[in-house]
Amino acid sequence: MKILLLGKNGQVGWELQRALAPFGALTALDRHAVDGLCGDLSDLQGLADTVGKLKPDVIVNAAAHTAVDKAESEPELAHTLNAQACEVLARAAADSGAWLVHYSTDYVFDGSGDRPRAETDPTGPLSVYGKTKLEGERLIQQSGCRHLIFRTSWVYAARGHNFAKTMLRLAQERDSLNVINDQIGAPTGAELIADVTAHAIRQALQTPQVSGLYHLVANGETSWYDYARLVLQFACDHGLALKVAPAAVGPIPTSAYPTPAKRPANSRLSVDKLEQTFSLSLPPWQAGVVRMLSEFLGK
Ligand SMILES: NC(=O)c1ccc[n+]([C@@H]2O[C@H](COP(=O)([O-])OP(=O)(O)OC[C@H]3O[C@@H](n4cnc5c(N)ncnc54)[C@H](OP(=O)(O)O)[C@@H]3O)[C@@H](O)[C@H]2O)c1
Repeated sequence: MKILLLGKNGQVGWELQRALAPFGALTALDRHAVDGLCGDLSDLQGLADTVGKLKPDVIVNAAAHTAVDKAESEPELAHTLNAQACEVLARAAADSGAWLVHYSTDYVFDGSGDRPRAETDPTGPLSVYGKTKLEGERLIQQSGCRHLIFRTSWVYAARGHNFAKTMLRLAQERDSLNVINDQIGAPTGAELIADVTAHAIRQALQTPQVSGLYHLVANGETSWYDYARLVLQFACDHGLALKVAPAAVGPIPTSAYPTPAKRPANSRLSVDKLEQTFSLSLPPWQAGVVRMLSEFLGK
């Protein structure tokens, strides 16, 4: 079985290289051309040609324009990478009968209310990133290709840039630290996303009717503020010298930390559909964060 993985060096892409390896022939690309193959999402013809040459059974797209604030000032590029590239991959998958696996985001929702969103709930993105990711989903769904789209949230990994690592750095450098406490979601490890993806692909190859859109996040919920405190507490307990102790972190509302892109206040996603369809029970968010910190800090 042949798999084409795009975005191999991102947080999720890196873990997918590990999780997809047992399938056999895995071609993993980043944005740089190699052996006449193109993994650059901005080169739409190159992408189509690459799928045509490789004829993969499964295309896994872990690449995206993920710089949420930057996307506000470069909407065309975000649209190309997050929407148009999806359409190209989806059409190529539909033509060849391949599966397309793709990742989307909690940012497709407007963040109102306080209950977890189901896959069938109305969307209402607040940012260019959210809008372009939603368009990418729709283009895949409309193409008729067999697909797995996983909406995830607050992704972290031992490798790559993310909130947890930023908090560790800031708590070592600064004298004080304030973190938003009115956005609620579930930090989700790239390892978990990759392992669930591999599991779902195996099942999808046996039972194609599972094709569809799923929410894939760790269980439970937290605010960025409580997440930061857990990260710093772990670091403290394991001997890392911090200038800001966990108890000294200040809670602030979103309005006190303006950013170019608006974020949803309610990022809760229900994983019922994923758990039922694929017979899974997703772990609590704290388990993966602690594991990542142990690995990252060597503790
Ligand atoms: N990070 C989150 O909190 C989060 C939350 C919800 C959903 N998601 C979704 O989950 C998926 C994986 O995200 P992630 O956290 O792994 O993101 P990431 O670490 O930022 O990785 C994204 C990858 O996309 C690549 N990329 C950017 N522009 C490209 C281009 N023109 N051609 C090819 N590759 C390009 C980047 O390569 P370079 O390193 O070369 O730039 C990077 O390796 C994405 O679909 C994202 O939208 C992420």
